[in-house]
Amino acid sequence: MKQFILVANWKMNPITVEGAQHLWNVVSKGIDGTDKTKVVVCPPFSYLHLFSSLKGISLGAQDCFWQQEGAYTGEVSPKMLVDLGCEYVIVGHSERREYAKEDNQIVNKKVKAALDARLHPILAIGEKIRETFDSRGKHTNELDRIVERQLVEGVAGVPKSRAEQLLIAYEPVWAIGTGIAAESNDVFTAVLFIRKILSQLYSRSIADRIPVLYGGSTDSKNLTQFLQEGNADGALVGGSSINASEFLRMIKVAEEITGK
Ligand code: PGA
Repeated sequence: MKQFILVANWKMNPITVEGAQHLWNVVSKGIDGTDKTKVVVCPPFSYLHLFSSLKGISLGAQDCFWQQEGAYTGEVSPKMLVDLGCEYVIVGHSERREYAKEDNQIVNKKVKAALDARLHPILAIGEKIRETFDSRGKHTNELDRIVERQLVEGVAGVPKSRAEQLLIAYEPVWAIGTGIAAESNDVFTAVLFIRKILSQLYSRSIADRIPVLYGGSTDSKNLTQFLQEGNADGALVGGSSINASEFLRMIKVAEEITGK
């Protein structure tokens, strides 16, 4: 039975401890030990100590540094995240690439440091501009140029023995927070493309075991199309994850598909 993965990326929300506690409580109670869908919640660093993984819900962080300890003012290391109970960490989110100017080399160092600490890195990749097609129906290569490079450079040096700890989140930048999600066939093409590259880098069977998620304006209404027609193994959810009832509806959608 396929287990979908829904990752909640709270980003820089909510702005109070009380708000964070409330959101976590409502979501964790609503999940109530479900095991058909894997739920990973990634609050801001400052709230991580308040929460711990429970049955059906795992704790993750939104970023980490590439060193484990030392004189790196303002940074948080993968080992510190493990000590706080994290099992996952998002790496290379487009907002980090944009606002913190992280490039593929920095992202790669973070992926490897996260793996060294035994975290599951959720490597976020995605093109900035929407794929367009020429008159013969051939795409204009944004996927090939940007996504392939982000993936290949992002996992460079990750050995076969560790590759299955990875998760990949395909997040076209134009779909993040815009309310304009990708079409299911965009997602299908991207998931296939990502799997093809992973097979070339590792092997077909390893590639099949690395979850490929979709992210970008997902909600309870459009999730089915990404999981079914899009063939994604789950979703990385931003805006809809800080609305507890909407996020619980998304979990229910994933559960229903799994149950079919
Ligand atoms: P969104 O964000 O669901 O608000 O589009 C997704 C993300 O940035 O991970």
